[in-house]
Amino acid sequence: MDLKDRVVIVTGSTSGIGEAVARRLAAAGASIVVNSATSAEAGEAIAGELPDAIYVQGDISDPQTAVSLVESALERWGRLDGLVNNAARTVQIPMADIDAVTADHWRMILEVNVMGTFLVSQAALPALRNSDDGWIINITSVAGVRQTGSSIPYAVSKAAVDHLTTLLAKYGAGEVRVNAVAPGLVATPWTADWDDLKAGVTAIAPLHRVATPDDVADACETLIASRYVTGQTLVVDGGLSLVL
Ligand SMILES: NC(=O)c1ccc[n+]([C@@H]2O[C@H](COP(=O)([O-])OP(=O)(O)OC[C@H]3O[C@@H](n4cnc5c(N)ncnc54)[C@H](OP(=O)(O)O)[C@@H]3O)[C@@H](O)[C@H]2O)c1
Repeated sequence: MDLKDRVVIVTGSTSGIGEAVARRLAAAGASIVVNSATSAEAGEAIAGELPDAIYVQGDISDPQTAVSLVESALERWGRLDGLVNNAARTVQIPMADIDAVTADHWRMILEVNVMGTFLVSQAALPALRNSDDGWIINITSVAGVRQTGSSIPYAVSKAAVDHLTTLLAKYGAGEVRVNAVAPGLVATPWTADWDDLKAGVTAIAPLHRVATPDDVADACETLIASRYVTGQTLVVDGGLSLVL
């Protein structure tokens, strides 16, 4: 994949999947806007390690963050070609514990995962439409396509982003391709202490392991290279959703 002279924003790229995707696209030649809400030191360090990158701090649920991410890319490089909407939040509440879910959980998760993803996409689309190969990839989850995941609000938020993916592909994007990658269980800081779940996935998933962040980066590369694909969700779960 040759992304020389291409400019990409990766939200939530100081850790885990976002960091792996940012590093992969940078290795292919892209200039990268690295982002996170709180981990500014890690963000500056990653941007400093990449060949051509800047770090922009901001919570994607704040409308101003969407504006600064896009303006920073345009000020520095004068163009924007890709957006990876990766930043998200969750809360761990067993699915059956309906009474434990509060309005604050819904507000926090929907504001970041759904509204934040929309706001950054909305801000980026005019510049992406000016690219001869503009694209958006939303990182969703197997929780959005099967009855599983860290909590009901999280699973619903990821299903919503899969649907947002189709809506933007159909109505909002001009010739910009909009797709989603839905990982199964991935070994990242987010899942660092989920040992029982990892053992369970390793036992039942047809490919008998959890994913690495690089597995997700592979899928992103595939979608970036697939120039006639839009409005799709690519499930990257080692076959886990086949057995749930
Ligand atoms: N790990 C899994 O098993 C798994 C499975 C399916 C889907 N996913 C999805 O993959 C994505 C990344 O997950 P991960 O496991 O790589 O998580 P992670 O290692 O915890 O990284 C999350 C990144 O997002 C940033 N972030 C969080 N909230 C943000 C916000 N409101 N605004 C801007 N940045 C924000 C974090 O930085 P700060 O905290 O400093 O803001 C960090 O850089 C998420 O969309 C998640 O839902 C993960």
